[in-house]
Amino acid sequence: LTTQVAIVGGGPAGQLLSHLLRLSGIDSVVLELRDRDYTIQRVRAGVLEHGAVELLREVGLGERLDREGQEHHGINLQFDGERHNVSFHDLIGRSVWVYGQQEVIKDLMQAHDAAGTPARYSVSDVRVEDILSDTPVVYFTQDGQDYELRGDFVVGSDGAHGVCRPTIPAEHKKTYRRDYPFGWLGILAHVRPSTEELIYSLHERGFAMHSMRSEKVSRLYLQVDPHDDIANWSDERIWSELDTRLGIPGWTLHHGEIFDKSITPMHSFVSDPMRYGRLFLAGDSAHIVPPTGAKGLNLAIADAAYLHEALTDWYRDGSETGLDEYSPRSLRRVWQIQHFSSWMTRMLHRFDESAEGGHPENVDYDYHVQLGQLRLLTSSERAMSHLAEVYTGLPMLTRQ
Ligand code: FAD
Ligand code: DHB
Repeated sequence: LTTQVAIVGGGPAGQLLSHLLRLSGIDSVVLELRDRDYTIQRVRAGVLEHGAVELLREVGLGERLDREGQEHHGINLQFDGERHNVSFHDLIGRSVWVYGQQEVIKDLMQAHDAAGTPARYSVSDVRVEDILSDTPVVYFTQDGQDYELRGDFVVGSDGAHGVCRPTIPAEHKKTYRRDYPFGWLGILAHVRPSTEELIYSLHERGFAMHSMRSEKVSRLYLQVDPHDDIANWSDERIWSELDTRLGIPGWTLHHGEIFDKSITPMHSFVSDPMRYGRLFLAGDSAHIVPPTGAKGLNLAIADAAYLHEALTDWYRDGSETGLDEYSPRSLRRVWQIQHFSSWMTRMLHRFDESAEGGHPENVDYDYHVQLGQLRLLTSSERAMSHLAEVYTGLPMLTRQ
């Protein structure tokens, strides 16, 4: 088999890149480990930046998003029993959209189907070779048959546990990582959201968040031990903990049937550079952020847009400039978002503070610093404007 761009991984980064390339007349093949149904059903992120929405609209993926997605003009920050609204709209005239990652994937799959270029699902034994040559190759198996896919480029958009990043030799990359001592328990429930805008809450017992997917489906998260077993969390226990951590006087959290629940550990990760020879990494395969800033999906979309520009330049006039700039350009964005995501995470989660050195005063010191931090933030329009600028999204396609 031959193509122009071989794309390993059919998540948002891979499927969007393939879509953008097709619109520019560049041929690509997406290889996906999982089957179609699994890929559609996988529940993940839900917030799209302003620029990501504009991009999706420009490339013909905005129709259902405009119909079923929800525009959000701000978020709520809750601490010390008080709920504070941060209006992105009033502060900087921007908004974000709540539209599930699953829905973005569905729209992409539909566009590929309509164009007759669906991904190859349920592939296995994927191997990337010859990436320092002009004809890199991806070996894979599908339906018991072995294939060799040759292209001008290979894109590794195969997520955090993919095979592409490990093919870059250790001496040609540097990796950075930070683990957090907690994870998120996430649920989807058949119940009308109890809030119009998202609530991010720092509570003495830990972080909680109220998000949503539609007028009938709520998405909620709880900070938990990353090693905890989901079997320890009955539906009653989850609702009771959400009631405690999200509750304020005069407000009730509606309960409903939970139809999806899972625990995800949290960490930050970056692999630099995002290119080796003819292999380019995009999305989670190169960088992970903790979900508090709602950025993982948006970074994957930005990478696809950057890489599409670089590849289009090369196919149009043979220019290597865009390809050379891809990794530094993406990483500049990534490190700014690493900062934002870690800032939001540290501000809003409860860290276990033991009585270090036997001093009982050490307990709860950081928690009270965080309360002070949130108080400073919510009493300053300038500070809130900064949050609003980054939350709604750094400019998507400028080259700074
Ligand atoms: P992925 O979506 O991971 O796609 C990679 C694809 O490659 C997958 O379909 C995978 O099956 C496939 N693949 C893997 N290995 C191979 C291989 N060898 N060959 C072929 N295909 C392969 N972000 C948020 O902002 N908010 C959230 O609430 C949130 N929740 C998350 C929950 C979970 C459990 C996870 C894992 C991530 C979550 N994220 C969240 C992050 C966000 O979903 C990701 O940043 C986003 O999916 C990145 O897109 P991607 O295309 O780079 O990678
Ligand atoms: C959602 C996920 C996030 O990580 C976040 O910060 C906000 C919303 C969500 O799944 O809706």
